[in-house]
Amino acid sequence: MWHYLDGGRDTPTGRGNRAALDAHPLLPRPLAEVRGGHTRLELFGETLGHPLLLAPIAYHRLQHPDGESACAMATAAQDGQMVVSTLASQPLEQIARAAEKPLWFQLYWQGSRERTARLLERALAAGYRCIVFTVDAPVKLATSPLPADVRPVNTEPPLPRRLQPDQSEVFDGWMAEAPGWHDLAWLRERVPVPLLIKGVLHAGDAVRAVDLGCDGVVVSNHGGRVLEVAPAALSRLPDVITALGGRVPVLYDSGIDSGADAFRALALGARAVLVGRPYLWGLAAAGALGVAHVIRLLRDELEMCMALCGCATLADISADRCG
Ligand code: FNR
Repeated sequence: MWHYLDGGRDTPTGRGNRAALDAHPLLPRPLAEVRGGHTRLELFGETLGHPLLLAPIAYHRLQHPDGESACAMATAAQDGQMVVSTLASQPLEQIARAAEKPLWFQLYWQGSRERTARLLERALAAGYRCIVFTVDAPVKLATSPLPADVRPVNTEPPLPRRLQPDQSEVFDGWMAEAPGWHDLAWLRERVPVPLLIKGVLHAGDAVRAVDLGCDGVVVSNHGGRVLEVAPAALSRLPDVITALGGRVPVLYDSGIDSGADAFRALALGARAVLVGRPYLWGLAAAGALGVAHVIRLLRDELEMCMALCGCATLADISADRCG
């Protein structure tokens, strides 16, 4: 289970994420007036206490029997937001109830429009307030065997694959079930709430997604778990932000391990960040309290960085505070 969670960190992509964040030192600005400062923000019509969202992660019950519901409770207690994975190990309605506030739902394409629509309708009926469509993982490097009592409870059984001997597992197997741009346009028409696209590194792809009606973009390389030699996600963030020119919020994901990392991504123009593995470490160590503790630690770190760099609000975190 540790291997499953940690996978991707020690790859060129994972190490690149770390190195790119570390390459941006923060510039202290003493004597600034920051009393009354805060980390609040408005995001897709909701006021959040801080910009540290929980990234969608599969199978939380691998780490703790209370699973996704524990993370949902911690999210609400810490006035944040959580993106619940398509591959959650508890019913998405149960997770929604645990949060006592509308969460966001991460959607993976389910191999066909009909199957995808069924999952989407269920998430919308359960009150999820944003849909995050992850597009960067149509091919998996490896699939780990799951223990008997942990499984993706919200998805239908996988479609049977019938490959001819001369067919490719990748092109005719995985990719035959992957979505394309036309599917994104189809999805846009069916999602009545904000729709974000997650897993974009190329500025042209980000522009195309927004042209098709996406309300937000998550710059991410999946924490180094998909293409092991992808560029550091942070290195692509400025290009995407410039290309979009403020049309929609851009969120950053991949390698955020501290409040200083969050500050760095915000300084380069991200509106909020998604945190992945660190909150699962908290879940594994101490359930809901562990997750709440991790969120609080990251938030305290972010507040300290802001105070030391002379930023009273997130809007003050500009590129000139970060080398
Ligand atoms: C993921 N990620 C992921 N993303 C997604 O959209 N749906 C998913 O089901 C999962 N599952 C998943 C499992 C595990 C164990 C990990 C570590 C990651 C990717 C995740 O949302 C996020 O992009 C990365 O975790 C961000 O990197 P850090 O913060 O973990 O470095």
